Amino acid sequence: SAAGLIWQVIRNGEAKTPAEREAVLADPGFGNHFTDHMVDICWSEKGGWHRPRVSPYGPISLDPAAAVLHYAQEIFEGMKAYRHADGSIHTFRPFENAARMQRSARRMALPELPSDIFIESLKQIIAVDADWVPSAPETSLYLRPFMFAKEAFLGVRPAKKVAYYVIASPAGAYFPGGVEPVSIWLSTDYARAGKGGTGAAKTGGNYASSLLPQAEAYEKGCQQVAFLDDAGNLEELGGMNIVLVKRDGTLVTPESPSILEGITRDSILQLATDRGHAVERRAISLDEWRSGADSGEIVGAFACGTAAVVVPIGRLLGTDFEIVHTGAGASELALSLRRELTDIQYGRVEDRHGWLT
Ligand code: COI
Repeated sequence: SAAGLIWQVIRNGEAKTPAEREAVLADPGFGNHFTDHMVDICWSEKGGWHRPRVSPYGPISLDPAAAVLHYAQEIFEGMKAYRHADGSIHTFRPFENAARMQRSARRMALPELPSDIFIESLKQIIAVDADWVPSAPETSLYLRPFMFAKEAFLGVRPAKKVAYYVIASPAGAYFPGGVEPVSIWLSTDYARAGKGGTGAAKTGGNYASSLLPQAEAYEKGCQQVAFLDDAGNLEELGGMNIVLVKRDGTLVTPESPSILEGITRDSILQLATDRGHAVERRAISLDEWRSGADSGEIVGAFACGTAAVVVPIGRLLGTDFEIVHTGAGASELALSLRRELTDIQYGRVEDRHGWLT
């Protein structure tokens, strides 16, 4: 197969029964359940990528000195496999995930996994766990490729032994409210990323640093947290990108070297461009959002990511102010772009951009 690697497939003799699986697929939620198998590939400085394998899903054994446990040398990806009406299974823009994982790897001093091996790893897990791709509306199989430093060594330097895995998790809506508008807490005590930091890499530490402010968000009755940069410009949310909607249909989204380059965001902005909307990728200050909401210039906002897809933002709550987007049309564009994107992903309309694999 890819890059001449020979895959070993070890079937799970204790796989879930069809009845157990169907019970999970009936109400998957997000991130709660995992399929019967996983993929792993080893990397060493001497041997490169080797021993690609599909094996029964289960605990992995790690040396307590494995560098990832101490210095967080880790990256991951998130993508979904969709079942079409004819039963076929499709992933969405997987080459973009492969390329982003390579960029994350460079930033975190991890080895780059060649795209053909990345794609093959997805094919392998989907082939063996195809029955886990749900078919109910708006459900999918969330794929989670990840890579970490497994060398047992406490000195601080890039690991010479690394593991790459793919696990898969049947997924429904990310937010319990589905596509109901969410409330966002604006964190001002904490930042997600700094200049020259790891904000653009999909690395665990960025998400770890979001947890405390995210807990603060829950305390304030909000589902997500928003972060600003030093200059007071919008960055992103705890686990997704943000886009503002202007009265004239223009979409505005932060451009910053310290946010994650979302593939869902890029796709949504492409669909909006196709419809003739203006799209601006630039710095957006909090003040611009506040005054725009006051004047009626900004009519709505939405969060977007692989897990969440597109969800309207109904409210931004700060320590001493609140922006509310409940006016006519506040969520209309977000939901219609969501619909168009999922129509492509589920094969309900033509894949005119060639995004499906
Ligand atoms: C995504 O896949 O959308 C993520 O960024 C990861 C997490 C928020 C579930």
